[in-house]
Amino acid sequence: MSSVWTAERLQQLQAGFADPHDAEAILKALAAHFPAHTICFSSSLGWEDQVITDMIWKAQLPIEIFTLDTGRLFPETYSLMERLHEHYGKRIRVYFPDAARVEQLVNERGPNCFYTSVENRKLCCQIRKVEPLARALQGMQCWVTGIRAEQSPERSHLPQVEWDEVHQIVKVHPLLHWTLDEVKAYIRQHRVPYNPLHDKGFVSIGCAPCTRAIRPGEDYRAGRWWWEDQTKKECGLHVSSIKN
Ligand code: ADX
Ligand code: SF4
Repeated sequence: MSSVWTAERLQQLQAGFADPHDAEAILKALAAHFPAHTICFSSSLGWEDQVITDMIWKAQLPIEIFTLDTGRLFPETYSLMERLHEHYGKRIRVYFPDAARVEQLVNERGPNCFYTSVENRKLCCQIRKVEPLARALQGMQCWVTGIRAEQSPERSHLPQVEWDEVHQIVKVHPLLHWTLDEVKAYIRQHRVPYNPLHDKGFVSIGCAPCTRAIRPGEDYRAGRWWWEDQTKKECGLHVSSIKN
Protein backbone atom coordinates (compact mmCIF):
# COMPACT_ATOMS: atom_id res chain seq x y z
CA MET A 1 0.00 0.00 0.00
CA SER A 2 1.22 3.52 -0.81
CA SER A 3 1.96 6.05 1.91
CA VAL A 4 -0.67 8.65 2.81
CA TRP A 5 -0.32 11.94 0.96
CA THR A 6 -0.58 15.27 2.74
CA ALA A 7 -2.64 18.14 1.30
CA GLU A 8 0.62 19.94 0.58
CA ARG A 9 1.99 17.07 -1.48
CA LEU A 10 -1.26 16.83 -3.44
CA GLN A 11 -1.09 20.57 -4.14
CA GLN A 12 2.50 20.25 -5.32
CA LEU A 13 1.53 17.50 -7.76
CA GLN A 14 -1.35 19.60 -9.07
CA ALA A 15 0.82 22.72 -9.28
CA GLY A 16 3.11 20.77 -11.60
CA PHE A 17 0.32 20.68 -14.21
CA ALA A 18 1.03 23.82 -16.23
CA ASP A 19 -2.48 23.89 -17.69
CA PRO A 20 -5.33 22.11 -15.84
CA HIS A 21 -7.11 21.79 -19.18
CA ASP A 22 -4.27 20.01 -20.96
CA ALA A 23 -5.23 16.41 -20.18
CA GLU A 24 -2.48 14.89 -22.28
CA ALA A 25 0.21 16.89 -20.48
CA ILE A 26 -1.32 15.88 -17.14
CA LEU A 27 -1.14 12.19 -18.08
CA LYS A 28 2.47 12.63 -19.16
CA ALA A 29 3.30 14.43 -15.91
CA LEU A 30 1.76 11.58 -13.90
CA ALA A 31 3.67 8.97 -15.89
CA ALA A 32 6.89 10.87 -15.13
CA HIS A 33 6.06 11.30 -11.44
CA PHE A 34 4.95 7.81 -10.38
CA PRO A 35 7.00 4.61 -10.69
CA ALA A 36 6.14 2.25 -13.58
CA HIS A 37 3.14 -0.05 -13.00
CA THR A 38 1.72 2.10 -10.20
CA ILE A 39 -0.65 4.30 -12.25
CA CYS A 40 -3.93 2.99 -13.57
CA PHE A 41 -6.88 4.41 -15.44
CA SER A 42 -10.40 3.06 -14.89
CA SER A 43 -12.46 3.13 -18.08
CA SER A 44 -16.21 2.68 -18.31
CA LEU A 45 -15.75 2.94 -22.11
CA GLY A 46 -17.83 6.12 -22.12
CA TRP A 47 -16.65 8.90 -24.42
CA GLU A 48 -14.60 10.72 -21.76
CA ASP A 49 -12.79 7.46 -21.08
CA GLN A 50 -12.20 6.89 -24.77
CA VAL A 51 -10.44 10.27 -24.98
CA ILE A 52 -8.11 9.32 -22.12
CA THR A 53 -7.46 5.85 -23.56
CA ASP A 54 -6.55 7.42 -26.89
CA MET A 55 -4.09 9.79 -25.19
CA ILE A 56 -2.50 7.01 -23.12
CA TRP A 57 -2.11 4.51 -25.93
CA LYS A 58 -1.01 6.96 -28.62
CA ALA A 59 1.72 8.35 -26.36
CA GLN A 60 2.48 4.81 -25.09
CA LEU A 61 2.31 5.97 -21.49
CA PRO A 62 2.94 3.33 -18.81
CA ILE A 63 -0.59 3.64 -17.41
CA GLU A 64 -2.61 0.45 -17.04
CA ILE A 65 -6.14 0.72 -18.41
CA PHE A 66 -8.84 -1.46 -16.90
CA THR A 67 -12.60 -1.77 -16.94
CA LEU A 68 -14.99 -3.35 -14.48
CA ASP A 69 -17.21 -5.78 -16.34
CA THR A 70 -20.27 -6.10 -14.13
CA GLY A 71 -21.78 -8.79 -16.34
CA ARG A 72 -24.67 -6.42 -17.09
CA LEU A 73 -23.09 -4.09 -19.65
CA PHE A 74 -24.72 -3.18 -22.97
CA PRO A 75 -23.90 -5.35 -26.03
CA GLU A 76 -22.61 -2.12 -27.62
CA THR A 77 -20.06 -1.79 -24.82
CA TYR A 78 -18.67 -5.28 -25.45
CA SER A 79 -18.51 -4.52 -29.19
CA LEU A 80 -16.59 -1.36 -28.37
CA MET A 81 -14.01 -3.42 -26.45
CA GLU A 82 -13.43 -5.42 -29.63
CA ARG A 83 -13.25 -2.27 -31.76
CA LEU A 84 -10.66 -0.85 -29.38
CA HIS A 85 -8.55 -3.93 -29.93
CA GLU A 86 -8.89 -3.62 -33.71
CA HIS A 87 -8.06 0.09 -33.62
CA TYR A 88 -5.08 0.12 -31.24
CA GLY A 89 -3.95 -3.53 -31.26
CA LYS A 90 -4.29 -3.64 -27.46
CA ARG A 91 -6.87 -4.76 -24.96
CA ILE A 92 -7.91 -3.04 -21.80
CA ARG A 93 -7.73 -5.27 -18.74
CA VAL A 94 -11.06 -6.59 -17.51
CA TYR A 95 -11.97 -7.25 -13.88
CA PHE A 96 -14.98 -9.39 -13.02
CA PRO A 97 -17.01 -9.60 -9.83
CA ASP A 98 -16.64 -12.56 -7.52
CA ALA A 99 -18.82 -15.31 -9.03
CA ALA A 100 -19.96 -16.75 -5.69
CA ARG A 101 -21.15 -13.34 -4.47
CA VAL A 102 -23.06 -12.66 -7.70
CA GLU A 103 -24.69 -16.10 -7.48
CA GLN A 104 -25.73 -15.45 -3.91
CA LEU A 105 -27.13 -12.01 -4.75
CA VAL A 106 -29.15 -13.24 -7.72
CA ASN A 107 -30.40 -16.39 -5.96
CA GLU A 108 -31.45 -14.57 -2.80
CA ARG A 109 -32.73 -11.26 -4.18
CA GLY A 110 -33.41 -11.86 -7.89
CA PRO A 111 -31.62 -10.83 -11.09
CA ASN A 112 -33.14 -7.35 -11.13
CA CYS A 113 -33.23 -6.68 -7.38
CA PHE A 114 -31.71 -3.21 -7.92
CA TYR A 115 -35.15 -1.86 -8.93
CA THR A 116 -36.76 -2.84 -5.63
CA SER A 117 -34.72 -0.85 -3.09
CA VAL A 118 -31.74 1.48 -2.80
CA GLU A 119 -30.21 -1.10 -0.45
CA ASN A 120 -30.40 -3.82 -3.11
CA ARG A 121 -29.08 -1.46 -5.76
CA LYS A 122 -26.11 -0.46 -3.63
CA LEU A 123 -25.41 -4.10 -2.78
CA CYS A 124 -25.43 -5.01 -6.48
CA CYS A 125 -23.03 -2.11 -7.24
CA GLN A 126 -20.89 -3.13 -4.28
CA ILE A 127 -20.54 -6.71 -5.53
CA ARG A 128 -20.28 -6.01 -9.25
CA LYS A 129 -18.20 -2.80 -9.20
CA VAL A 130 -16.81 -1.69 -5.87
CA GLU A 131 -15.16 -4.96 -4.83
CA PRO A 132 -13.54 -5.57 -8.23
CA LEU A 133 -12.35 -1.93 -8.18
CA ALA A 134 -10.55 -2.54 -4.88
CA ARG A 135 -8.77 -5.48 -6.52
CA ALA A 136 -7.86 -3.43 -9.59
CA LEU A 137 -6.36 -0.68 -7.41
CA GLN A 138 -4.20 -3.00 -5.33
CA GLY A 139 -0.53 -2.02 -5.50
CA MET A 140 -1.35 1.20 -7.39
CA GLN A 141 -0.32 4.68 -6.23
CA CYS A 142 -2.32 6.79 -8.67
CA TRP A 143 -5.85 6.29 -10.06
CA VAL A 144 -6.94 8.27 -13.12
CA THR A 145 -10.66 8.69 -13.91
CA GLY A 146 -12.74 10.27 -16.66
CA ILE A 147 -14.83 12.37 -14.29
CA ARG A 148 -15.81 15.88 -15.48
CA ALA A 149 -17.05 18.73 -13.28
CA GLU A 150 -20.01 19.34 -15.57
CA GLN A 151 -21.46 15.87 -14.89
CA SER A 152 -23.16 16.72 -11.59
CA PRO A 153 -23.27 19.42 -8.90
CA GLU A 154 -21.28 17.12 -6.58
CA ARG A 155 -18.56 16.58 -9.20
CA SER A 156 -18.34 20.32 -9.93
CA HIS A 157 -16.60 20.86 -6.56
CA LEU A 158 -13.94 18.19 -6.96
CA PRO A 159 -10.26 19.08 -6.97
CA GLN A 160 -8.32 17.77 -9.97
CA VAL A 161 -5.94 15.90 -7.66
CA GLU A 162 -7.32 14.36 -4.48
CA TRP A 163 -6.59 11.77 -1.84
CA ASP A 164 -8.99 8.81 -1.87
CA GLU A 165 -9.38 7.79 1.77
CA VAL A 166 -11.21 4.60 0.95
CA HIS A 167 -8.60 3.20 -1.41
CA GLN A 168 -5.64 5.11 0.04
CA ILE A 169 -4.57 6.34 -3.36
CA VAL A 170 -3.96 9.61 -5.23
CA LYS A 171 -6.87 10.18 -7.59
CA VAL A 172 -6.62 12.44 -10.65
CA HIS A 173 -9.29 13.68 -13.06
CA PRO A 174 -7.49 14.99 -16.19
CA LEU A 175 -10.75 15.92 -17.98
CA LEU A 176 -12.28 17.66 -14.97
CA HIS A 177 -12.49 21.02 -16.76
CA TRP A 178 -13.55 19.77 -20.17
CA THR A 179 -17.05 20.39 -21.54
CA LEU A 180 -18.99 17.65 -23.29
CA ASP A 181 -18.57 19.53 -26.58
CA GLU A 182 -14.80 19.44 -26.15
CA VAL A 183 -14.93 15.69 -25.50
CA LYS A 184 -17.01 15.17 -28.65
CA ALA A 185 -14.70 17.40 -30.70
CA TYR A 186 -11.64 15.36 -29.60
CA ILE A 187 -13.41 12.10 -30.53
CA ARG A 188 -14.26 13.48 -33.98
CA GLN A 189 -10.90 15.06 -34.64
CA HIS A 190 -8.86 12.02 -33.62
CA ARG A 191 -11.35 9.46 -34.99
CA VAL A 192 -11.57 7.69 -31.66
CA PRO A 193 -13.90 4.66 -31.56
CA TYR A 194 -16.86 5.33 -29.26
CA ASN A 195 -20.05 3.72 -28.05
CA PRO A 196 -22.87 4.23 -30.63
CA LEU A 197 -25.31 4.61 -27.72
CA HIS A 198 -23.93 8.13 -27.30
CA ASP A 199 -25.60 9.02 -30.62
CA LYS A 200 -28.92 7.81 -29.21
CA GLY A 201 -29.09 10.16 -26.23
CA PHE A 202 -26.97 8.22 -23.73
CA VAL A 203 -24.44 10.52 -22.08
CA SER A 204 -23.20 8.42 -19.18
CA ILE A 205 -23.19 4.68 -19.93
CA GLY A 206 -23.12 2.10 -17.16
CA CYS A 207 -24.99 -1.19 -16.78
CA ALA A 208 -27.82 -1.81 -19.27
CA PRO A 209 -30.66 -2.20 -16.73
CA CYS A 210 -29.60 0.96 -14.88
CA THR A 211 -28.89 3.35 -17.76
CA ARG A 212 -31.25 5.11 -20.15
CA ALA A 213 -31.03 7.88 -22.72
CA ILE A 214 -31.72 11.42 -21.53
CA ARG A 215 -34.00 13.96 -23.21
CA PRO A 216 -32.78 17.40 -24.29
CA GLY A 217 -32.62 19.65 -21.22
CA GLU A 218 -32.33 16.79 -18.71
CA ASP A 219 -29.19 16.74 -16.59
CA TYR A 220 -26.34 14.32 -17.33
CA ARG A 221 -27.09 12.01 -14.43
CA ALA A 222 -30.81 11.72 -15.27
CA GLY A 223 -30.14 8.54 -17.25
CA ARG A 224 -28.61 6.65 -14.31
CA TRP A 225 -30.74 4.91 -11.64
CA TRP A 226 -33.58 7.23 -12.69
CA TRP A 227 -36.07 5.57 -10.35
CA GLU A 228 -34.07 6.68 -7.30
CA ASP A 229 -33.90 9.87 -5.29
CA GLN A 230 -31.50 12.34 -6.95
CA THR A 231 -29.15 12.41 -3.94
CA LYS A 232 -28.47 8.66 -3.96
CA LYS A 233 -27.16 8.46 -7.51
CA GLU A 234 -23.58 7.31 -7.11
CA CYS A 235 -22.54 3.69 -7.39
CA GLY A 236 -19.86 3.65 -4.75
CA LEU A 237 -16.82 3.83 -7.03
CA HIS A 238 -16.25 7.44 -6.05
CA VAL A 239 -17.50 7.60 -2.46
CA SER A 240 -14.36 9.23 -1.22
CA SER A 241 -14.79 12.04 -3.79
CA ILE A 242 -18.57 12.35 -3.58
CA LYS A 243 -19.94 11.85 -0.12
CA ASN A 244 -23.59 10.79 -0.37
S1 ADX B 1 -20.46 6.05 -12.01
O1 ADX B 1 -19.86 6.20 -10.70
O2 ADX B 1 -21.68 6.82 -12.18
O3 ADX B 1 -20.61 4.66 -12.44
P1 ADX B 1 -19.56 7.35 -14.37
O4 ADX B 1 -20.24 6.44 -15.31
O5 ADX B 1 -20.06 8.73 -14.23
O6 ADX B 1 -19.38 6.67 -12.92
O7 ADX B 1 -18.03 7.37 -14.74
C1 ADX B 1 -17.10 8.17 -14.03
C2 ADX B 1 -15.76 7.50 -14.04
O8 ADX B 1 -15.81 6.35 -13.19
C3 ADX B 1 -15.34 6.97 -15.40
O9 ADX B 1 -14.72 7.96 -16.18
C4 ADX B 1 -14.37 5.87 -14.99
O10 ADX B 1 -13.12 6.42 -14.67
C5 ADX B 1 -15.02 5.32 -13.74
N1 ADX B 1 -15.91 4.17 -14.06
C6 ADX B 1 -17.25 4.13 -14.08
N2 ADX B 1 -17.71 2.91 -14.41
C7 ADX B 1 -16.62 2.14 -14.61
C8 ADX B 1 -16.40 0.78 -14.99
N3 ADX B 1 -17.42 -0.06 -15.23
N4 ADX B 1 -15.14 0.34 -15.11
C9 ADX B 1 -14.09 1.15 -14.86
N5 ADX B 1 -14.23 2.44 -14.50
C10 ADX B 1 -15.48 2.94 -14.39
FE1 SF4 C 1 -26.00 -3.67 -10.49
FE2 SF4 C 1 -27.20 -1.64 -11.77
FE3 SF4 C 1 -25.09 -1.21 -10.12
FE4 SF4 C 1 -24.79 -2.39 -12.51
S1 SF4 C 1 -25.42 -0.25 -12.11
S2 SF4 C 1 -23.84 -3.01 -10.63
S3 SF4 C 1 -26.68 -3.67 -12.60
S4 SF4 C 1 -27.15 -1.96 -9.57
